[in-house]
Amino acid sequence: MILVTGGAGFIGSNFVLDWLAANDEPVLNLDALTYAGNLENLAALAGDARHVFVHGDICDRALVDRLLTEHRPRALVHFAAESHVDRSIQSGLPFVTTNVAGTQVLLDAARRHGTQRFLHVSTDEVYGSLGETGAFREDTPLAPNSPYSASKAGSDMLVRAAQHTHGMDCVITRCSNNYGPFQFPEKFLPLMLANAQEDKPIPVYGDGQQVRDWLYVRDHCEAILAALEKGKSGEVYNIGGNNELKNLELVKKVLAALGKPESLITYVKDRPGHDRRYAIDAAKIRRELGWSPRFTFEQALPLTIRWYQSNGAWLQRVRSGAYREYYARQYGG
Ligand code: NAD
Ligand code: DAU
Repeated sequence: MILVTGGAGFIGSNFVLDWLAANDEPVLNLDALTYAGNLENLAALAGDARHVFVHGDICDRALVDRLLTEHRPRALVHFAAESHVDRSIQSGLPFVTTNVAGTQVLLDAARRHGTQRFLHVSTDEVYGSLGETGAFREDTPLAPNSPYSASKAGSDMLVRAAQHTHGMDCVITRCSNNYGPFQFPEKFLPLMLANAQEDKPIPVYGDGQQVRDWLYVRDHCEAILAALEKGKSGEVYNIGGNNELKNLELVKKVLAALGKPESLITYVKDRPGHDRRYAIDAAKIRRELGWSPRFTFEQALPLTIRWYQSNGAWLQRVRSGAYREYYARQYGG
């Protein structure tokens, strides 16, 4: 058995579904079901005894301890996090609680129980922002710029310390921007898909010239699998899609694919401290673990668009309630 944290979120649920489609090793899924967690993502696993879901918080030491005693997972894949930069700008403390303290709770428990491997899912945002050229390598100094990325960098350092000090078997992955099914529509790509479908404005921060490297979520899940099974303890592996796009280019591609007019583009106030450019050098994971993306953007964007079009009910449900209140605070109505 493996323990997955945050397995009801965007990437975590894709990982759990892909894992159980490929092998029979059970998954213990610990998720607090925050606004971003959605059990509907895992509906395909209803009645599947290989998936054991536990509704709980990674900061709950007694619960984590009990789960490791009862289930003795061989490995822990740690996705659970507060993951949205804009929310961290509105309020940073939940990011420190879950991302930093929660990671330490898991590390302590994994050490006590002799969990063989701790795979920590991190982000390219810990490296900060790039100029016009160059790409993040694993030895690029950390320079996080938002409360979100600072909390992720903090958790990376705790994982590093656990490996260095206690000799734990830990691997860290740092990935670029993901897209695909089940992504919560506060993130840019599903937000623009949802808005464009209803002919609503697409909010572009600042001048829209910021660059992100977009990777299909299934490729990210495969990279995590490779790092889990073949990664070397103490190592960091960058994961990227080789697909740099300016935000404005991305919006235009999506609008063209949907047959919607560019007049939906609406420039809004920039994100404070907005990182200008991310780019990933993924040579290490390609060379050492044999991973490279299987999907091109031209293949996976239409798959993603089709998924959102045929899962309108999912979209409607997540766009209600708590999400609406957040949206009003962020965009003023
Ligand atoms: P998400 O926000 O969609 O999901 C996070 C999940 O964690 C949710 O199911 C939520 O309920 C759960 N969670 C939050 N706090 C918790 C807590 N205290 N205890 C237990 N569960 C809790 O996030 P995502 O986009 O799927 O990202 C998953 C991980 O991957 C994060 O660690 C993120 O930093 C990292 N990452 C994301 C991207 C991306 O593009 N989305 C890229 C690189 C790295
Ligand atoms: O790089 C990896 C990171 O990618 C992950 O660690 C984060 O968890 C994930 O949320 C994502 O962070 P970003 O801040 O890059 O993603 P987001 O979808 O919020 O924004 C993508 C870009 O689009 C960014 O430059 C900000 C911009 N943007 C975003 C929103 C929500 C807009 O222009 N308008 C918007 O309304």
